[in-house]
Amino acid sequence: MTTGFTIWFTGLSGAGKSTLSELVERELRARGRRVEVLDGDVVRTNLSKGLGFSKEDRDTNIRRIGWVCEVLTRNDVVAISAAISPYRAIRDEIREKIDRFVEVFVDVPLEVAIARDTKGLYKKALAGEIKQFTGVSDPYEAPLDPEVAIDSAAETPAQSAARIIAKLEALGYL
Ligand code: ADX
Repeated sequence: MTTGFTIWFTGLSGAGKSTLSELVERELRARGRRVEVLDGDVVRTNLSKGLGFSKEDRDTNIRRIGWVCEVLTRNDVVAISAAISPYRAIRDEIREKIDRFVEVFVDVPLEVAIARDTKGLYKKALAGEIKQFTGVSDPYEAPLDPEVAIDSAAETPAQSAARIIAKLEALGYL
């Protein structure tokens, strides 16, 4: 049996997916696990270079990330995806393909993500300079039954990361 598993973060831009993936990666490495993080922004500069943000392109992007996670997981690696992955059906499609799949919903009120505006993209999206921006002018479908739900506006990243690790232990994956 594989010792690998996939941690699938989903949530709006600025919710904290990348921050949490780094914290969880660090903790898992400290426990001697091999870990690979597939961050949406990074994947889009190589594996998914050239793809845009239409539903079709997002689905292609997410299916590629899902396939890499599947391959890593069956080779005893911990795969961590940190992409918006806005469409429920595609996330569920990937869940079906991966034996040990832990969906982490990084929930944040849109107003909080806009106030953070880590990359300055919400300002542009609200001004209409970026089209089809998730949460502003494009859909985000929240998970109905995620393994972990993070309240990004109420918890510190360290608290959230600790809750994710605790869930992995409870599942028997660590
Ligand atoms: S996904 O929808 O295909 O899962 P992904 O996580 O790879 O998205 O990329 C999202 C990142 O691309 C955002 O964090 C942001 O930096 C950037 N971005 C640029 N344009 C958009 C857009 N229209 N909608 C959402 N994110 C965008």
